[in-house]
This record gives sequence, structure tokens and C-alpha cells, in this order.
Amino acid sequence: MSPENAPLVLVSNRGPVTYEDDGTVKRGTGGLVTALTGLASHRDAVWIASALTDGDAERAREAGGKPIEVTSPAGGTYSVKLVASDPAAYDRFYNIFANPMLWFIQHYLWDLSNAPDIRRHEVEAFEWGYNVVNEDLADAVVEQIDGVDDPVVMIHDYHLYTLPGLVRKARPDAFLHHFVHIPWTQPDAWRVLPTRIRNDLYEGLLANDIIGFHTRSYRWNFLQCCRDLLEGYEVDFDAGIVRTPDGREVWIRHYPLPIDWNATRNVASSPRVSEFEGQLLRRRRDHLILRVDRADLSKNVLRGFSAFDLFLEQHPEFSERVTFMAQLMPSRTDVPEYAEYLERIEALVAVVNHRHGTPDWMPIHLKLRDDLEEAMASYKHYDVLMVNAMFDGMNLVAKEGPVVNERNGVSILSENTGAHEELGEFALSVNPFDIQETADSIHAALTMDAAERARRADGLRAIITQRDPGDWIDWQLEDIRKKRA
Ligand code: G6P
Repeated sequence: MSPENAPLVLVSNRGPVTYEDDGTVKRGTGGLVTALTGLASHRDAVWIASALTDGDAERAREAGGKPIEVTSPAGGTYSVKLVASDPAAYDRFYNIFANPMLWFIQHYLWDLSNAPDIRRHEVEAFEWGYNVVNEDLADAVVEQIDGVDDPVVMIHDYHLYTLPGLVRKARPDAFLHHFVHIPWTQPDAWRVLPTRIRNDLYEGLLANDIIGFHTRSYRWNFLQCCRDLLEGYEVDFDAGIVRTPDGREVWIRHYPLPIDWNATRNVASSPRVSEFEGQLLRRRRDHLILRVDRADLSKNVLRGFSAFDLFLEQHPEFSERVTFMAQLMPSRTDVPEYAEYLERIEALVAVVNHRHGTPDWMPIHLKLRDDLEEAMASYKHYDVLMVNAMFDGMNLVAKEGPVVNERNGVSILSENTGAHEELGEFALSVNPFDIQETADSIHAALTMDAAERARRADGLRAIITQRDPGDWIDWQLEDIRKKRA
């Protein structure tokens, strides 16, 4: 069967929905779920994912290891197989090893002055956490492809670097394709990890047939890491190939992820979005600056507010005329670094509001919640979209905002996001660490003439609507076909 027609097996830590304790179903947040939802609902695919809540674990038990049909509140029906790992192992996997360890390494959130101490706790988080969850999901994959000839398994993200090695051992004939949704950092960033753990991660990952990234530069960094950190592997930079000691070739590719802009526009025209728009427009000042993010350190929320603070100080004529609305979804709150980050965000908002606010005007509106429709309403009416991440694999907000915005809003876009490779030309590019430059960009955006705003907004829309996630998956399937030929 050709890979285009074969039933796909997708595997990731987060699945399309989670079941809350009260039985309600919530859409999964983040770029990975956004990327895969279109794919999994339109093709014959089984999506294997970790059970993240007690509600998920309950469903997994009821299903007895079989896939179940689930319908996401964001639309789409999926065949999902939920895998419940031992809760203590899962806690080590998610809250210690995957986040913050791997996430921080892959976003340069550590340098040598603040790198973590590695003690038994961290090593055990790998051995008795990360590996356990990878084994559990690998077992589920192997069971799912039992009896299937030439199966194709698409593995997603940094949670599952050791899974491919386990599946490869059980099914040498399987085609394993791994997409990494986050940046790949340069070799030295990886030196924080004990050599043995690092080798296990790279060896596991290199059991794949193809490894995909969002951008050329992550792909390049990965090849450099294989050259500098591993022994016995051969790296061909021109061909983008790593040869393993046992003679296999692993293709290293990049496939920038498009958004499902049609679906985004459909959500934006729903009645619930109109309700939010009504509220927003009643309170609107002359200008609206917007950011929508998970409350994650990599998103650089604090420097964004500091830039706004500086802008208000340097341009007092904007007092009472502009609101900065920040919709942040609390994320990974059991990880101390994240919980502390949220506190620092709230404290800085209070300072800026106190410094510049008036009895009639609160400069920053902070909304700590995950509400897609509320975000859509704000997307439609922003004048400036702030995406100033320190590092970000792709950043889908940078693509979602411009396709529904009705005001030719200007994007301020960090040059360290994957999206910048595609959209930089029509955005105001910023170095995310440069607060003055970001403040200047706010001013430039708010004073830009209408023709220039329209030119940029048209440019962004044209690029973003050129492709959709169907194309993204087709590029990958095409490479799978070529490599198999
Ligand atoms: C990023 C990662 C995803 C992850 C998402 C949300 O987009 O690439 O793998 O699912 O963040 O994070 P969470 O920890 O809530 O799954």
C-alpha cells in the first residue's frame, strides 16, 4: 500500500482532547495539536497519545487499549488511543525531564551561568520517567501496527526521542518519521545533559528514517549536533543525511508548518466570537496591541511588557489611547519555573498599570485563560500583534492573527521564531532581547500610514494562505515515498 493511502499512526504526548474530571472535553492547546488536528480528522489515522488527566486515564481503562472516537470542541472527530502511564513516572517525564529539561535546552533558556544541577533526581527523571512513558507509548504503537505490512508511524516532538529506537527494535520494517515542533539548538546547548543521557536521546531519535523540523536553521543545527556530539555517525551536510553505525541513512528535512487558515476563518465567524467582539469594541481605545500565548518563558512576555512600558514613557501622547491586551494560557503550572514566571508576569503588569494608568484607563489587560473564541475576537481587531518570543519553533499565532484581522494590523515578529523565515519581509522584525527596538516598533506600527499597513497585511495574508496542513503532510508523505522507493 502506498504511504498516501496507508492508515497512519500518529503518536505524541498531547492528544487532540483531554477529559476533565467533571467529564467535559477540552481541546488540547499548543502548536502540535493545531498542526495535527486537520490531518487526523481528514485521514484514516489513529492518534496515540498519553492520558494527561484522571478523566483521560478513566477513558483509557474503559477502552481497554482500543482506539476510541472522540469529537473535539474545536471540531473534528478522531480515533484516539490513550495510554495511561504510572502517575509517578509520568510526573518525572513531564514535569522534570521533558519540561523544563529538554524544553529549556531547546529554547536556549539555560546558559552556563544558570544551568541546572544534575543529580540523581534528574537522572532518575530520565530513567524512571522519560523512558517509562516512551516505552508505554512505544508498546501501544507496536500493538497498533501488529499485522500491518510496511506501517508508517509519524512521531511528534521532544517528548518522544527514545520511542523510535524501541519501535525500530520491535518492527525493523516500520517507516518512522519524526517531526520536532520546537527549535533545535546548537551543540553546546546540549552539553548540559549527561553524555550518556544525551547519547540515548540522539540514538533513539536516529532510529527514525526521516526527522523533520520547521526551518532550515534547526535542521542545520541538528546536523551539527550529530557531527559534534556523537561518535560513529557520519554527517553529510549537503545531502542532509546522517549515516548510523549500523549503516542506515536518516534523512534530515525541514517542512515549515502552515495553518488551516480556512478553519481559522470559520471559527472567527462563529456567534460566540461575535459576542466577545461586542464586548471588546464597547471598551476599545484608539489602538489595540495584542499578544496570545501560552504563559511560557520562551515567549518573552516580560520583555514585551517592558517594551510597552518604555513606549508609554517615551510617547506620552499615547496615554489613554492604547490598550495592550495579553491573553495568556497558564501552562505546565506544576513546573516551578512556570509558576514563578506567571507570578512575575502578574507583578510586572501591576507595576506598568500603576505607573501609567489613569482612573479611566488600564494600559495592560491581562487575561489568564485558554479561550480560542475570545482570542479570535481580539485577532479580528488588533492594530499590532506582538510575537516577540526569545525562540519559538514556528509560532502559529503569527499566522493565525493576520488571516482573520480586519484592520490591516501590523505584526511585530521576533527574528528567532520559525515563522520569521517565511513572514519576516512583511512584519516589523525585532531582536527579542532589544527592548528599545521593540518599543520603537510599537511606535512605528501605531503611526504607520494606511497604505503601508495594507501592503504588509496583504503580504502576510498572501503567504499564509498559500498552503495548508494538507500540503505539509503531503510533503512529508512524498519524502516517505521517495525514501522507500
Ligand atoms: C508546544 C509543543 C507541543 C506541546 C504544546 C503545549 O507547542 O511543541 O508538543 O503540546 O507546546 O504544551 P503542553 O505541555 O501543554 O502539551
